[in-house]
Amino acid sequence: KTVNLSSDALSKDGFAHYMLKEIHEQPTAVANTIAGRLYNDQVCKYFIDEPIADILKKVKNIHIIACGTSYHAGLVARYWLEAITQIPTQVEIASEYRYRKPVVPDDTLFLTISQSGETADSLAALRFAKTAGYLSTFAVCNVANSSLDRETDVCFLTHAGPEIGVASTKALTTQLTVLALLTLKLAEIKGVDPAVRTNLAKQLRTLPGIINQSLMLNDQIEVIARQIVRRDHALFLGRGVHYPIALEGALKLKEISYIHAEGYPAGELKHGPLALVDENMPVIAVCPNDELLEKLESNIEEVRARGGELYAFVDHKSKHGLANRVNHLIELEASGSFTSPIVFNVPLQLLSYHVAVLRGTDVDQPRNLAKSVTVE
Ligand code: G6P
Repeated sequence: KTVNLSSDALSKDGFAHYMLKEIHEQPTAVANTIAGRLYNDQVCKYFIDEPIADILKKVKNIHIIACGTSYHAGLVARYWLEAITQIPTQVEIASEYRYRKPVVPDDTLFLTISQSGETADSLAALRFAKTAGYLSTFAVCNVANSSLDRETDVCFLTHAGPEIGVASTKALTTQLTVLALLTLKLAEIKGVDPAVRTNLAKQLRTLPGIINQSLMLNDQIEVIARQIVRRDHALFLGRGVHYPIALEGALKLKEISYIHAEGYPAGELKHGPLALVDENMPVIAVCPNDELLEKLESNIEEVRARGGELYAFVDHKSKHGLANRVNHLIELEASGSFTSPIVFNVPLQLLSYHVAVLRGTDVDQPRNLAKSVTVE
């Protein structure tokens, strides 16, 4: 009996698109990225050896530079690094950074994040950094032997495997995983309470399983995608470490469905975007049960009062305060607060994917965009 499968179908593993396949690969990709790097709740020397640890001991500031989705990984990392290790951290878009005259305080670490390791602006930023008096240059990258891997002093590889869909999914998830491991190592160096570190490590170890649970929301998300598909605009809201996840949700939707979308920190609503809210504006809110939930609830109330159509991604604790306030509730498995941004990003990927499929766009190769932008 002959099985007639094209090589294309084989490489998509039966998924309709690379993007969908890559979204589903995330539990494995995260497990691969953690493998051998975390043992007994400690970051292994295989990941951060003595010479690298010696550099990290000196770090007083961190400058993170990246583009696109990788920039959003940097924004999440800033919340982690400052809250957990108290190391002042700045995050900047590479194309801006490379053309200004950044001040580099003593003992500042330069950190580039890039899936491809070939993004022209990120590489130019690295080349500038090499002349700018940084303590060292570190990178988080998915492609071994890429220009970035070769040129940076230290490169931590994400083990996402090849990412083919232009819209980045598993690359971001594994970048965040590496950045979380780096935060954990810095927490150890800074003498953060071992009980706190054990809790963070535990969250990382359970991450693949929790992402798997998020993937099971696929059918529910497809249902809400059917409502959003008819809209011309969408607003994504988050607060704290979930604000970058709102930015990423908006970026993903605009990239592949061509719906105009903006991500906003929910507290900033009243300074502009609230003027856009009416019954034609879907507002998608990232609402984990964290210390900002009460604030977020009142922001959501502001949207509701203007008739906005509310979609809330919640967990089993945050759902109670939101159930009567929003039109649609999607409940995720609760993760710890450390890994929560990684987990909440997954259903937003699925949402963009389904909206794009319903709109009939070229999901894996959206118009005017490239997987790797190697020219300015
Ligand atoms: C392009 C891709 C994005 C990616 C960005 C940065 O715009 O379409 O998905 O986030 O480049 O790429 P990098 O390879 O540096 O992460």
